Amino acid sequence: MNTFQQYLDTVNQAIANIPYPKTPEQLYEPISYHMALGGKRVRPVLLLMACDAMGGDPAMAIDAAVGLEMFHNFTLLHDDVMDNADVRRGKTTVHRRWNDNTAILSGDTMLTIATQYIARTANWPVMDLFNKTAIEIYEGQQWDMDYEHLNNVTVEEYINMIRLKTSVLLGCALKMGALIADSDSEQADLFYQAGVNMGLAFQLRDDVLDVWGDPKTFGKEIGGDIMNNKKTFLLINTMLLATGDDVNELRHWLNDPYTIRDEKVAGMTALYERLGVRELAEEAITHYNDLAIDAFNRLKISDEDKAAFISLSNKLAGRKF
Ligand code: IPE
Ligand code: IPE
Ligand code: MG
Ligand code: MG
Ligand code: MG
Repeated sequence: MNTFQQYLDTVNQAIANIPYPKTPEQLYEPISYHMALGGKRVRPVLLLMACDAMGGDPAMAIDAAVGLEMFHNFTLLHDDVMDNADVRRGKTTVHRRWNDNTAILSGDTMLTIATQYIARTANWPVMDLFNKTAIEIYEGQQWDMDYEHLNNVTVEEYINMIRLKTSVLLGCALKMGALIADSDSEQADLFYQAGVNMGLAFQLRDDVLDVWGDPKTFGKEIGGDIMNNKKTFLLINTMLLATGDDVNELRHWLNDPYTIRDEKVAGMTALYERLGVRELAEEAITHYNDLAIDAFNRLKISDEDKAAFISLSNKLAGRKF
């Protein structure tokens, strides 16, 4: 198995070589802008790692890896419209730099380019997995939006929502790599399980960083979830735990349409800290990361390869970026 950096270099090289048509400029420039912003490239690297660990040829997997990263970036263009976000990867989001219509249409184009790349594997189970995963992500994104306006979302509903919007794509990346390596369904499913649990820890970490992250390393504005009344793990547990004056304060921040951004973010952060919900999130992150590690350990791969997956899972669970 190569190092993360070696897989990353391969992925970045392939992304840099994507041939975009010149015109219409307004369609393709935002795509190359967004793809060049970088990001962690976690999904394509996971795909190449799984393919390699199962004895496949990573050269056969590179198109699928590029396709999956393109797909992920498409979801971000639309997500930033839906979440009204100004900053992504430390730069202006596409819908702010251009406009919403650009984010919609360039995003649609990215989805189709992604499908073209994945279809080059000429592997029906891979295509089937991709399409199923994509629909699950749209379902998760719809729950995420619906829950902004609901105040009785349960932890269980939250976990299902993040499983759909985020985790299945990490599961898909690993399973796709295994499928391209022609591994049997038991191994492919174990990879999927590992990825989904990694993804749950990943999204819980994202929720924590949205409140306590450093915008310079995190690359996104702090407090976006708070401003949107996103039913994150932090907010749901706060709603369950708050008593007395905290309940009134919570109602005020959630319901008053005239709150000032800095005041609401500071007020909600203080409430989270008072009620200790950050610690609950850290426990949940450890729990799902442990489940991911269990699944990696059950794979029939070398100890060295297991260690590489486990080290990446630990790194992502504790990430600051
Ligand atoms: C952002 O994904 C959306 C979530 C699922 C939290 P990443 O955190 O992987 O974003 P990039 O690609 O590294 O920018
Ligand atoms: C992202 O969830 C999930 C998808 C893009 C499908 P978030 O809305 O939390 O992601 P960020 O924080 O904007 O990256
Ligand atoms: Mg979102
Ligand atoms: Mg968002
Ligand atoms: Mg987020």
